[in-house]
Amino acid sequence: MAERVAIVLAAGESSRMNTLLPKVLHEVSGRPMLAYVLDTCRQVDVARIYVVVGFGAEQVKERFSDVPDVVWVQQDQQLGTAHAVLCCREYLKDFGGQTLIVCGDGPLIRAQTLRTLIEKHEAGQSAATLATALLDDPTGYGRIIRDAYANIQGIVEHSDCTPAQLAIREVNPSYYLFNTRVLFEALEQVRPDNVKREYYLTDALSGIIATGHKVTAVTAVSPEEAVGVNSRAQLSAASKIMQRRIQQELMENGVTIVDPDNTWIDARAQIGQDTVIEPFTYIHGEVRIGPGCRIGPFAYLRSGTVLEKDVVLGVFTEVKNATLADGVRARHHSFIGDASVGRNVNIGAGSITANFDGEKVNRTTVGDNCYIGSGAVLVAPLVLKAGLHIGAGKVVSQESVNSLGSSPDTD
Ligand code: UD1
Ligand code: CA
Repeated sequence: MAERVAIVLAAGESSRMNTLLPKVLHEVSGRPMLAYVLDTCRQVDVARIYVVVGFGAEQVKERFSDVPDVVWVQQDQQLGTAHAVLCCREYLKDFGGQTLIVCGDGPLIRAQTLRTLIEKHEAGQSAATLATALLDDPTGYGRIIRDAYANIQGIVEHSDCTPAQLAIREVNPSYYLFNTRVLFEALEQVRPDNVKREYYLTDALSGIIATGHKVTAVTAVSPEEAVGVNSRAQLSAASKIMQRRIQQELMENGVTIVDPDNTWIDARAQIGQDTVIEPFTYIHGEVRIGPGCRIGPFAYLRSGTVLEKDVVLGVFTEVKNATLADGVRARHHSFIGDASVGRNVNIGAGSITANFDGEKVNRTTVGDNCYIGSGAVLVAPLVLKAGLHIGAGKVVSQESVNSLGSSPDTD
């Protein structure tokens, strides 16, 4: 098996997004686009991942500072995708293996598709292998040009297409596998002879074909895997597709999602078997939900929420940075923030933790089997020992519970 490295192109300025944030940091279902692309590269066995950064490089590196397996490559001026790859030349000049190239703005690419690309490349002993996709609306994408025998001749960018070429629906999703030596030879030849005056990686591919090297294609990968995010509209389209994938996987793992179109679940969320997610539930950030829970409708779960087992959260219940043990119930209009709630605690309608005192956030601990009546305000910092009964409408501070002495009941 040939040794393989990956190059992720992520230096572009993303003017069409109209954004100050580097494009690859824009989030799709809660994670930056680049995070998905890196994950996919890791799944196809690469020795190293080079990420080319430029526009907002410091921000990108900062956001991924905990990622140990990436070599950051600086592209000071964004002169085009061919130029971006050439920025890696110093690292790869003596490398005889394969180079996989993907774009940081293509979060929907799947490892299985890259594996197919690799298999086809190796089976055909090709110099380069690309993917193609058939799109109903190919606007903005590079078009695949074929000759009368359907052999691929090259790729023409949208802005350089003739009217006849604009009608071509077969496009370049922009992931490729190259014989590294052939790639760099071809990149040297690329000139910015196009409308945008950029050095195009697609021209390197056309050059490889023109010099008689064998180029293979994995044709018609799924259209969604061709989505490159250049605009906010494409960002939301990519998010929608990612939501479907996330929810599909959860459902396969035994989670019931009553209405997937009206449910939003973060890519980082984990949900246990036989948990039911009712409509209009929004799960954002790192959230862990155990088995047998019932969530929503209209629940809002934020980062740091851990629900153990058989937890019931109903309408307009918000939880953040809190652990709710087995059997906790908060069926209506509650806010539970920065808390540890023990087993089988009942939290009545409209009860909340008052976790912020205007200066800092404080924790609430509720012991097992407590009963919190409706409309109670638990003023943090607060520790309620097990079995307490808090009457409806109470404002409960640590002072007020301490003054109860040994009585387990504050009614
Ligand atoms: C590119 C392809 C096009 C393909 C489309 C798929 C080229 C010339 N065109 O077009 O054929 O259909 O992707 O989505 O490759 N980048 C850099 N440095 C640069 C320029 C770009 O790192 O100097 C990065 C961008 O951050 C981006 C990726 O390369 O992640 C692709 O660049 P982009 O400008 O988005 O290319 P497209 O016009 O979408
Ligand atoms: Ca793009």
